[in-house]
Amino acid sequence: PIPADILSAFDYERHARARLPTDVWAYIDGAGADGITKRWNREAFDRIPLAGRVLADMSEASTAINLFGMEMNMPIILAPTAFHMLVHPEGERATVVGASAAKAWMSVSCQASVSLEEIAAVSETTLLFQLYMQQSRDDTLRLVRRAEAANYRALLVTVDAPVNGVRNDEQRAGFRLPPHVRAVNLDGMPSPVSRAGPGESPVFKGLLDRVPTFADIEWLRRQTSLPLLLKGIAHPDDAERAIGCGVDGIVVSNHGGRTLDTLPASLDMLKDVAARVDGRVPLIVDGGIRRGTDVLKALALGANAVMIGAPILHALAVGGAVGVLHLLTILRAELEVAMALTGCRGVGEVEEGVLAERRLSGR
Ligand code: FNR
Repeated sequence: PIPADILSAFDYERHARARLPTDVWAYIDGAGADGITKRWNREAFDRIPLAGRVLADMSEASTAINLFGMEMNMPIILAPTAFHMLVHPEGERATVVGASAAKAWMSVSCQASVSLEEIAAVSETTLLFQLYMQQSRDDTLRLVRRAEAANYRALLVTVDAPVNGVRNDEQRAGFRLPPHVRAVNLDGMPSPVSRAGPGESPVFKGLLDRVPTFADIEWLRRQTSLPLLLKGIAHPDDAERAIGCGVDGIVVSNHGGRTLDTLPASLDMLKDVAARVDGRVPLIVDGGIRRGTDVLKALALGANAVMIGAPILHALAVGGAVGVLHLLTILRAELEVAMALTGCRGVGEVEEGVLAERRLSGR
């Protein structure tokens, strides 16, 4: 049973922290370096006041949207997060059951702890596969073909983590994967290793010999007819180049503050990217979204949908599939309240007018 005092995403976070081993918590909660971007992600939402509107007609109001030609009943997608078996014995199998019950789309991490086929087998929702480009194109292509065969409906290529961020929280806690948890979908695929000797570049030598570039995205675009999204775009110029590669969508993200610390808040990056993209491809944003009002603000500033990462793991840790369903139900209800009280009958009506003081959010 779900503890009765859990009413919000923050409540799930508090319960998960109390329940999980400290090293696992450090992995899930740990940010890059000093955690500044992670803090900014939240502050950017909190800074923006909303414009309340009254007496609007809300008959037939709906949170439904259409993305890549597919219907979705709310603009909230599960972000890809690695190793769900760290927090629940069923891992991603439980997550996808909860997401399916909520009819929410789920992204499956390349580093899932359950095979992508097994997750698809118990899924009753739309699945997206998050791909990390592998060292060899053959390995990358094998993953793409498996995702296609298992009926994944889009590829989300994460481009902001060719190396791990500086994860001091994890290092201090001495986090290591337990023996029963690994990235099963990558079995047999080599991960890059540093070949640096004393006094040599610790990261540049070896680790980054074969990092993906925009040329690889152009190549990947030719290999599949699935919608292709790049996740981790942080700059309008990179959004422009992504569109030039023929991508179908962009996920504006700073990886929840886990990669490069002091990147801007995701909401601030969204504004810049949305201005440049100007509606040419759909935009999704993630990082720090914890309330329905956060979703509303992201939609108002140019996102077509949002993704949530860590809160899903918190809910999974506390309540398994039921926890995931409960959290998604809470977030959807909060979004509906926010839409009702700002007079928005549909997601398409959520625009900058719902923000009271746009200038307060400027940096
Ligand atoms: C992540 N994220 C992530 N992203 C990705 O593309 N592949 C991955 O395997 C992971 N793994 C992962 C693990 C954990 C524990 C977290 C918290 C995050 C990043 C994730 O997709 C998303 O960008 C952020 O989590 C969004 O920020 P919030 O919602 O967690 O604040």
